[in-house]
Amino acid sequence: MPRVAVVTGASSGIGEAVSRALTARGWRCVLLARRRERLQALAAELDAEVEVCDVADRIAVEETARRVLERHRALGLLVNNAGIPGRSSFVELDPERIEHVMRVNYLGGVWCLRAFLPGLERGRPSHVVNVVSVAGTVAFPPAGPYSASKHAQLAFSRASSAQLASRGISVHTVNPGFVDTEGFPQRELRAPRLLRRLVVGPDAVARHVLTVLDRGGTETFVPGWYRVAAVAQALAPGVVARVLGRRG
Ligand SMILES: NC(=O)c1ccc[n+]([C@@H]2O[C@H](COP(=O)([O-])OP(=O)(O)OC[C@H]3O[C@@H](n4cnc5c(N)ncnc54)[C@H](OP(=O)(O)O)[C@@H]3O)[C@@H](O)[C@H]2O)c1
Repeated sequence: MPRVAVVTGASSGIGEAVSRALTARGWRCVLLARRRERLQALAAELDAEVEVCDVADRIAVEETARRVLERHRALGLLVNNAGIPGRSSFVELDPERIEHVMRVNYLGGVWCLRAFLPGLERGRPSHVVNVVSVAGTVAFPPAGPYSASKHAQLAFSRASSAQLASRGISVHTVNPGFVDTEGFPQRELRAPRLLRRLVVGPDAVARHVLTVLDRGGTETFVPGWYRVAAVAQALAPGVVARVLGRRG
């Protein structure tokens, strides 16, 4: 019997790429997002299952998990990947968007982990991969609310990693840098050419997730050198604030 993985935000970008990579490795994927048609098309290709669900809606997440856990008592993996951008500062962004970014990017992962936890416990040793962001490690003023939602997601990922290790569940934080996807069309950024050359495709993140599952890794970056930015933020927050403040 193949092991079962639930992938949130599987209808495009990183989630779609991760679902393809996991299926190629023999996992049975439950594809979760809001756009039914996109999920169904991918599920037909991958022989996967579809769950239409808004991760910001706690009740909907609990009902979805109940359905999934009735079909599959034990889960081997939860990939918390669903997320939305918030490409402006806290001044320009609509207040509703600021709230929604937090509900999807931070709380969505909390509701999913809570709801799928019984399945992960029955499937142990099992894994959780939280797709966070370099923006969760460096406070980025031009997208302050998004960066704050990713900081919250990162803190929760670290806390649950420490809490669940003794229960046989490995929680991995994966922090991508710029990845060109539908929701985050990074190659269209009006950024210096050097910065645009740092953009990777979603397949690079999917390959990284497989490596983390094979070899372990509590908190990793894609590509790995982005860790420098996180270290700079931790060691010299004043310098980082001055440099990034010029962009803001
Ligand atoms: N691309 C980057 O540069 C980058 C860098 C670092 C981190 N990330 C993170 O990577 C994750 C995936 O983003 P992506 O770049 O692959 O963007 P994407 O192509 O826009 O994918 C986002 C996915 O999340 C789903 N989603 C959004 N809101 C949802 C909700 N309320 N409930 C359920 N699913 C929802 C979307 O599906 P539906 O619209 O069908 O619901 C879609 O499948 C996000 O958490 C993002 O913050 C991205």
